[in-house]
Amino acid sequence: MKVLLFGGAGYIGTHVALAFLDRGDTVGVFDDFSSGLRENVQKECILYEHSILDEKAVNEALNDGWDVVVHLAAFKAAGESMVDPSKYALNNITGSLNLIRGCQAHSVNAFILSSSAAVYGEPQYLPIDEKHPTSPLNYYGYTKRAIEENLEWFHQLHGSNYVSLRYFNAAGYDAEGKMRGLEKNPANLIPVVMEVATGKRSAIQVFGNDYDTSDGTGVRDYVHVTDLADAHVKAADYLLKEKQSLIVNLGSESGLSVREIIDETRKVTQKEIKEEIVGRRAGDPAKLVASSKMAKDILGWEAKHSSLNQIIKTTWDAYQKS
Ligand SMILES: NC(=O)c1ccc[n+]([C@@H]2O[C@H](COP(=O)([O-])OP(=O)(O)OC[C@H]3O[C@@H](n4cnc5c(N)ncnc54)[C@H](O)[C@@H]3O)[C@@H](O)[C@H]2O)c1
Repeated sequence: MKVLLFGGAGYIGTHVALAFLDRGDTVGVFDDFSSGLRENVQKECILYEHSILDEKAVNEALNDGWDVVVHLAAFKAAGESMVDPSKYALNNITGSLNLIRGCQAHSVNAFILSSSAAVYGEPQYLPIDEKHPTSPLNYYGYTKRAIEENLEWFHQLHGSNYVSLRYFNAAGYDAEGKMRGLEKNPANLIPVVMEVATGKRSAIQVFGNDYDTSDGTGVRDYVHVTDLADAHVKAADYLLKEKQSLIVNLGSESGLSVREIIDETRKVTQKEIKEEIVGRRAGDPAKLVASSKMAKDILGWEAKHSSLNQIIKTTWDAYQKS
């Protein structure tokens, strides 16, 4: 199979590349390196160094003949998307439309989108399944939903198929140590805790310890990036075999609290890790956990590497190496 990864030099994309390369597929990486890392792109990949906003370059790459396109190229900082929506409109929506239109022009009928749990917004019930209403709380989440809607329209009007993978919180690193550089500008809890462990930050701020959860701190669904990568391989096989479209959640289904993550990091790193309990952040729900039943039933996928220890240990190994 020939797979072209737009945004394939990023944190998740480089792990997706490993999963396809591992089974002998041909992998192309199209990336402008705005946040991607050259040192994490495997040498077997065919590299296209351009922006998805450059329609000519997108079409030239698609000309090389691909069975499946995976679209990971996006800006992903939810907070920034609320102060600079134009930046997100251009890169995430216009950029995606270039790819969707390019695929149509080149008869690539298998498109995998990196979507996000951010499409759901405030949880109305838990665990969140795919039937949960979509009502994004930030512009970033809206861009993902807008891309899904365009994929659905192109599916209806041109018969092109897509799988939208709604990731919960991606975490961890390749356990074999194949990644040489760390995710650029991470804003998630685990990298921040790691930075306290390495001494780059003095303390971790805990936003609220009075939530209605087992230990009072917020609970989120973390899924190991190697599990996410495996889901892309399964989605690609599904698209080529079943020729149907699908939207599925990818989460581990087991929520981890901020407290559990800090405590496990202390255990794995043997570092002190100072914390400061500060007030809750506006709009932060107590708990967000996925149902991944659809991914299991339809794609045969399950999270195999997403235990608390595997997530923290592989992340710490990566932080120590770089
Ligand atoms: N990390 C998460 O927890 C998470 C959760 C849900 C969804 N996602 C989505 O998954 C995808 C990958 O996320 P990531 O964590 O690997 O982020 P990342 O920033 O590491 O990767 C994004 C990649 O896309 C590239 N890129 C961005 N704009 C581009 C453009 N205009 N042209 C070409 N390349 C461009 C970047 O250089 C980078 O290599 C994103 O679409 C993100 O929205 C991530």
